[in-house]
Amino acid sequence: MHVLVTGGAGYVGSNVVLALLEADHRVTVLDDLSSGHRGAVPRDVPLVVGECGDTAALDAAAEVADVDGVMHMAARTSVGESMERPDLYYDVNLAQSLTLLDWMCAREVGWIIHSSTCAVYGIPATQQIDEGVCPRPINAYGSTKLAVDRAIRYYELAGALRGTSLRYFNAAGAAADGTLGEDKTPASNLIPRVLGVALGHYPEVTVFGDDYEGSPDGTGVRDYVHVGDLADAHLLAMDALAAGKTGDVYNLGTETGSSVTEVIEAARRITAHPIPARTGPRRAGDPGVLVASADKARRELGWAPSRSGLERVLEDAWRWHRAHPDGYAE
Ligand code: WQD
Repeated sequence: MHVLVTGGAGYVGSNVVLALLEADHRVTVLDDLSSGHRGAVPRDVPLVVGECGDTAALDAAAEVADVDGVMHMAARTSVGESMERPDLYYDVNLAQSLTLLDWMCAREVGWIIHSSTCAVYGIPATQQIDEGVCPRPINAYGSTKLAVDRAIRYYELAGALRGTSLRYFNAAGAAADGTLGEDKTPASNLIPRVLGVALGHYPEVTVFGDDYEGSPDGTGVRDYVHVGDLADAHLLAMDALAAGKTGDVYNLGTETGSSVTEVIEAARRITAHPIPARTGPRRAGDPGVLVASADKARRELGWAPSRSGLERVLEDAWRWHRAHPDGYAE
């Protein structure tokens, strides 16, 4: 199939592009390179530089060849930033996504897979979050992603298109061959931040709070899922839609949580660096514990994450960061 991957120059997007190519699909990438990198897109893959809110850019991307479907990953994805710049998040993540949906309807592009997030759940009452948990986002990032999930449902009920939302927990790791990884400067997510200390980019890591209930040591607990496993889920979801199934929502995580302290200690072992850390105040918008139940994705999509596990995601991430200390270095 020919798939338009928005945000395909980004961290998860570029790994999804790799998986699509390895499965002999055709890909065109639309990315405004605001946080993505040209160097993350294979030279033989057409890259249209532009925003999803620009229908001329969408048309240019579709000129390459008729598009069978869209994998929509173009978004702003930082919890912290979303609390400082809600305007940016509502424009990029919501308004531009609605333009994309309308463009798909006009061009009769049949299906979309939306990169969503566990941040839609806010502070869950349950330890393992399944898709039946009522979404109550507590930050602009999660709110905008939830709004798009819901829009896709209603567009599908109206018969306009079919769509599946994949709610990632914490994407981590890198392509096993070390060619694709997370390159955001300055690093805001925990793992690239911690590895950045080991590379000498930052003097220490700040632990955002150590008084969260439900955590083994009070520090924030997250479900770190390997980016290669996330990519696998996108192809499985695409195959389900291509087979005519209606779209749905799936949580993608390993069902195991790791605390900030556990991540730092594992990173110290893997990098053989002391990685100095100090405890600071909580970060606005942060829940304490976010761990997935991925039973529905396993049962209905046949998803079987094989790369995830804290040691493996840190080893793959470290291989990438050590080989690319300055990221893609455009
Ligand atoms: C993880 C934990 C922080 C940095 C991310 C993305 C979002 C979504 C979910 C997919 C938290 C703590 C962090 C630091 C710290 N992914 N932390 N010091 O906020 O869970 O969300 O994954 O859609 O895109 O934002 O990830 O890595 O920022 O934080 O103590 O310097 O590490 O408080 O408990 P987060 P994160």
